[in-house]
Amino acid sequence: QPAASVEHGGVKIAKDDVVRDDPTNNVPDTIFSKLGLQLHKRDQHPLGILKNAIYNYFDTTYPNKFDKFDDLCPIVSVKQNFDDVLVPEDHVSRSYNDTYYVDSQTVLRCHTSAHQAELLRKGFTHFLVTGDVYRRDSIDSTHYPVFHQMEGFRVFNPDDWEASGMDGTSYAAKDLKKCLEGLARHLFGAVEMRWIDTYFPFTNPSFELEIYFQENWLEVLGCGVTEQEILKRSGKTNNVAWAFGLGLERLAMVLFDIPDIRLFWSTDERFTSQFSKGQLGAKFKPFSKFPPCYKDMSFWINDSFTENNLCEVVRGIAGDLVEEVRLIDNFTNKKGMTSHCYRIAYRSMERSLTDEEINDLQWNVREQVENKLNVVLR
Ligand code: PHE
Repeated sequence: QPAASVEHGGVKIAKDDVVRDDPTNNVPDTIFSKLGLQLHKRDQHPLGILKNAIYNYFDTTYPNKFDKFDDLCPIVSVKQNFDDVLVPEDHVSRSYNDTYYVDSQTVLRCHTSAHQAELLRKGFTHFLVTGDVYRRDSIDSTHYPVFHQMEGFRVFNPDDWEASGMDGTSYAAKDLKKCLEGLARHLFGAVEMRWIDTYFPFTNPSFELEIYFQENWLEVLGCGVTEQEILKRSGKTNNVAWAFGLGLERLAMVLFDIPDIRLFWSTDERFTSQFSKGQLGAKFKPFSKFPPCYKDMSFWINDSFTENNLCEVVRGIAGDLVEEVRLIDNFTNKKGMTSHCYRIAYRSMERSLTDEEINDLQWNVREQVENKLNVVLR
């Protein structure tokens, strides 16, 4: 007789479904219910409008070159998500704290890079993959556990770089930056951007592109020259390739002036009616800025405590009414006990919340945080 629920790091997962009947499952109902919504396939939704605008750039810059996929299943194997793109065995992204596991060998893809290897093996050499991706994370206006990415991939032949006098890697890196700077200009016109050197297991060298937005540098994509090992495994020993993965929400927030990432999920007509097919960058007019309500809570943490688990508990209760969960105090006493104080901001995008409603939520949060995370409230 299987238990009615299982726990991971204090997060309880309901089981009312065969797929979830596995003790290694850490996908809560709130996340499961997002599978299949495919916001990126709606032509009237900011994410669909943005996807089409990027398609447009590739179609005009490289006619008939790139194959497009936007319907690949987000439930993938650990092999596809991690092994195939050379993510080391001990990399944090493999942990239950960072990734949603459906069972020990199956995850909700945490990036569209999960499809690189299979498409390469199938013989595709120029492709774009758009899809919903899933990550356990903290809560604020630019992070949501489900978001959308577009992956780009391009393979070069020796002929391509030999004529240039450059080596394959330098040639691909140069072409990649040119392609993405062109894309940024296509989408934004004049915008301040900068390249940052970084690390990804599947590319070398690796870069991030940042865009200046609301007085911050916002990371909008990661990219680089594909590790030779990935090409080798699909029989392309003599080729060189580049890849990029961009976050559609981040770009759409800038382009449409959307102030909070939760809005992408809104079905309120005052949101949805502001966008139409092919209209990139129509500025969103906030229909409400209801006041936030802040609640603080302090507790002594234990060794298994993580902020991602806390956020999952809070979101499980408050859903999209939670706008931010922020650590505002952190100290360790003489006995070695560590206390955290979190400030939770509650705010609806659509209506004003009553004191009573918020107090109820907070009361529930306190109770579940204590019970599920085994921390001691102060
Ligand atoms: N998969 C990376 C991420 O999600 C982005 C990326 C894609 C980086 C392709 C390099 C190449 O952060």
